Amino acid sequence: MDEIIVLEQVNKFYGDEVVVQVLFDIDLSIKSGQFTAFIGPSGSGKSTLLNIIGLLEAPTSGKVSLDGQDISGLNKGEQASYRNEKIGFIFQFHYLLPEFTALENILIPHWIGKGKPPQEIVGRAMYLMERIGIEQYGGKYPHQLSGGQQQRVAIARSLINQPKIIFADEPTGNLDSKTSGMVMELLKEIVRENKTNLVMVTHDRDIAAGADRVIEIVDGRINCDFTAGRMGREKVRQELEHMACTFSSADDA
Ligand SMILES: Nc1ncnc2c1ncn2[C@@H]1O[C@H](COP(=O)(O)OP(=O)(O)OP(=O)(O)O)[C@@H](O)[C@H]1O
Ligand SMILES: [Mg+2]
Repeated sequence: MDEIIVLEQVNKFYGDEVVVQVLFDIDLSIKSGQFTAFIGPSGSGKSTLLNIIGLLEAPTSGKVSLDGQDISGLNKGEQASYRNEKIGFIFQFHYLLPEFTALENILIPHWIGKGKPPQEIVGRAMYLMERIGIEQYGGKYPHQLSGGQQQRVAIARSLINQPKIIFADEPTGNLDSKTSGMVMELLKEIVRENKTNLVMVTHDRDIAAGADRVIEIVDGRINCDFTAGRMGREKVRQELEHMACTFSSADDA
């Protein structure tokens, strides 16, 4: 399957008395094996879009397909198990469960879907912890860890079920720039190793400049969309700096 994410005419409205449209007829298709970054002003609809693609929210209308499957057709229970099995999430505030250790937090997605993790899965959790440099913190509780360490626990957690897609909403928004750079490098490496698709919302120009594709959302619409391969990272960086975004829609040829 070449296209991992396909959106057709996705609309989102919020509110009962005062209805506000937040997303307008979004058509989008994302190829497998890419790192896609969504950028755009605050309130433009980035998180809403990510949550809809990640099955955390339903679109008001339109169709979402993941890995060739129309997920709008699934019922709530099917969506939950699909989400748990095939999707990993990383948020700005990592939402670790305070009463569980780092290792237990990493294993939670497995617990939810399949119950007590076998030795093999615990081994994978240990491998991931080692891979991102938190192996010595497995027995610690979130409050005993720094922000960067907690964020790395959340990254390991997002990878434990070997998801097809990882959605990350400002995953480094809470970290200093050095830790943020390190966390990003690790994330990109692990995603490459696992052949996972990474879809990220970020305010950080440097992070966006490292993506394969950058999509800017403005007022609930795709304002610009470009693929780095064709123009090179330096060009992307320059464009992002000037917020020119004058490119017509990438045709992904
Ligand atoms: N549950 C909700 N009910 C009503 N309005 C909402 C809800 N969630 C988001 N909105 C509105 O939808 C718009 C888009 O919000 P969204 O969170 O997607 O923006 P964003 O681009 O992620 O912004 P930021 O960069 O600040 O995180 C905003 O105007 C917001 O107020
Ligand atoms: Mg947001």
